[in-house]
Amino acid sequence: MSSYESRARQKADALKMSGHALILAVESSCDETAVAVVADGRRVLSNEIASQIAKHAQFGGVVPEIASRMHVEALDLLADQALQAAHVSPDDIDAVAVTNGPGLVGALLTGLSWAKSYAYARDLPLIAVNHIEGHVSANYVAHPDLEPPFVCLVASGGHSHISLVRDYGQYETLGRTLDDAAGEAFDKVARVLSLPYPGGPLLDRLAETGDDLAYSFPKPKLDNPYDFSFSGVKTAVIQMAHNLRQRGEEIRAADFAASFRRYVVDELTVKAVSAAWQAGVDKIAAAGGVASNMLLRRELTRRGQEAGMSVFLPPPILCTDNGAMIGSAGFYRLMRGEIAPLDVNAQPSRSA
Ligand code: KG4
Ligand code: ZN
Repeated sequence: MSSYESRARQKADALKMSGHALILAVESSCDETAVAVVADGRRVLSNEIASQIAKHAQFGGVVPEIASRMHVEALDLLADQALQAAHVSPDDIDAVAVTNGPGLVGALLTGLSWAKSYAYARDLPLIAVNHIEGHVSANYVAHPDLEPPFVCLVASGGHSHISLVRDYGQYETLGRTLDDAAGEAFDKVARVLSLPYPGGPLLDRLAETGDDLAYSFPKPKLDNPYDFSFSGVKTAVIQMAHNLRQRGEEIRAADFAASFRRYVVDELTVKAVSAAWQAGVDKIAAAGGVASNMLLRRELTRRGQEAGMSVFLPPPILCTDNGAMIGSAGFYRLMRGEIAPLDVNAQPSRSA
């Protein structure tokens, strides 16, 4: 073991014994550069986010090379801002947590290299965090009393699944999308309705003014009752819009948005609540960018409560990518003694 690694291990063991740690957390898996300072996995002292959305919107989607370059430019300054906003100095930091996957490989490598250098220079333990585990952990910072077991509906631009969180770090996937992620489907349908990237939140707002019974879409038969499929409905919407345009008829965008949103949200919330019921847990949470969808929040709350469950929703700022969620997940990894060597690599497609 190198002298850095033995010092980092010693420090990690001492932190584990104490049950406390102040973590500097870095997230750069996609189009948000984010750095946060989190105490003991639950208390967010700062949560700085530099969004690249305006830049990528010019191209209609995330351009990986641009994302990597913008992360590199943002990281140093953002880390300074996060420390200042938290009113702590670099000497107060106990460990560095960083997302190492899944995500865009180049983007992940920028945050990972930055975090490795920071940890090495200051002899701090390095913690590699799974991005999806991070999303789930947003619930720990949003709800300080929430403890496993619970079921979490994770719906983001790249992932949609129903996860049974048995304990910290112990996940069982009860259902998942067989094709498009929910956020990806929202973004593609939004594009057909001429909404700019990322269309999910705009489609959500437009849907509030539409009739969700205007269009109906067939539900596919799936082997696992808790799996989802969104490619069929997405194609149906695109086809219908195309046909209307060809006939020169008006597209009632708000009705399309409302009907499509209703379909996706019903699929996600009905299945998440049934899966939680089946698993015998009485707590249900949501995570990921799509968890800020207004209808999803209303429906998960209604259906969860009707089934006698407590429902946990992070505020929208903790649903989309952020550093606080990585700091929380990192803390619980540290408490299990899970620190990473300096040669830890990015895992672009690893799932939770
Ligand atoms: O979790 P996230 O920030 O990044 C990933 O890890 O993918 O999720 C981003 C996704 C995008 O597809 C975005 O359109 C979607 O979440 N999203 C929404 C809403 N807010 C964000 N989709 C539907 N309704 C929203 N309000
Ligand atoms: Zn994400």
